Amino acid sequence: MNSSHTASEGVSPPEPLQDDITAQWMLDPEIVFLNHGCFGARPRSVLEAQIHRRHEFEASPIEYLDRHRDGLIQQARTRLGGFLKASVDNLAFVTNATAGINAVLRSTQFDPGDEILTTTHVYNAVRRTLELVARERGATFREVPVPFPLHSSAQIMDAIHAALTARTRMLIVDHVTSPTAVVFPIKQLIALCEQQDIAVLVDGAHAPGMLDVDIEALNPSWYAGNLHKWVSAPPGAAFLWARPDRQLGIHPPVISHFMDEGFVAEFNWQGTRDISPWLCVDEALSYFERFSWKAVRGHNHELATWVQQLWTQRWGVPPTTPLDGSMIGSMTTVALPEIPPRYEEPMQLQRELWDRWQIEVPIIDWNGRWWIRASCQIYNRPQQYELVADAITELLF
Ligand SMILES: Cc1ncc(COP(=O)(O)O)c(C=O)c1O
Repeated sequence: MNSSHTASEGVSPPEPLQDDITAQWMLDPEIVFLNHGCFGARPRSVLEAQIHRRHEFEASPIEYLDRHRDGLIQQARTRLGGFLKASVDNLAFVTNATAGINAVLRSTQFDPGDEILTTTHVYNAVRRTLELVARERGATFREVPVPFPLHSSAQIMDAIHAALTARTRMLIVDHVTSPTAVVFPIKQLIALCEQQDIAVLVDGAHAPGMLDVDIEALNPSWYAGNLHKWVSAPPGAAFLWARPDRQLGIHPPVISHFMDEGFVAEFNWQGTRDISPWLCVDEALSYFERFSWKAVRGHNHELATWVQQLWTQRWGVPPTTPLDGSMIGSMTTVALPEIPPRYEEPMQLQRELWDRWQIEVPIIDWNGRWWIRASCQIYNRPQQYELVADAITELLF
């Protein structure tokens, strides 16, 4: 417990896992980086591993990318499978979560009248993909309104349960939502849909590294996740998991030589590309394992819970989820106080925080209100969030 940071009632922020962690990361120590959730950030060791991989490729391109490719990717998938508790046969690499989601949606045969369902918390790029797929196939696309603020997971379950119909073919649901940073009860949602023979595509862009993900136990139809966010692998590292009965006919977004030769074969070769991000997942996992994943997740969650209390109480705004942290992981979205009319769009406020304090934090316009989302990673410190509390007070009150 750290007695110097008791600005919020109830919880205290966690002790750092190690004193000099910031020096292990590529981030500029002068900036206040509170947006790990967007593109992640990398430890130095991960960038070094990637440079090494690129040297290997450049030294002997054919040997590396032709003859060694499948073996190298197999090793990387096995390592990732151990982390996600996923069978290696069900796991393929993609370049980002959007690509994994596109692969599933654009490979699935929807008929006119079929309904594709998601929630109002959906990530906008996924929404746009759903709009296109529905338009092309004559299917219906519907966003179920899930309230926010939320006081319990039961509200999410009830809203989605009530929206399922005999025509619902697929539910696309976030494991951790982007604008609102809520952990959805996906285990229960998958079970509910399974009973009604509705396929579930989980958008797990934020979950690996933030939550203890056991994909085979969750057993959705498909699960797409990013590794550049909370696993801190290089951008370009992401995966698609597909249950054995849901692999047939799923093609990567880029069709290439191995079309129809099996899920893994097709995804292993998506045209000539830099596979170093996939191969560096190993080093990214090893970096966090030095602290233990339990300690990393625990630190980040405790910090996010403390930040949620700090900002909510400091600005006198309604809590977005229970202040005990039971519905969040390592991010929290907090309501901003009333916005003075001189701010016409969120980017202005975000820009001002950056220009005046070098604070990098997203300001989000969602569902008729402005919100601020904090990410908490092991290099972050409580003082950084106190600085935001003060800066917002100075700008908005
Ligand atoms: C919930 C969610 N889904 C999908 C994505 C897309 O990730 P990417 O741009 O890496 O494909 C994001 C990115 O932030 C996200 O937050």
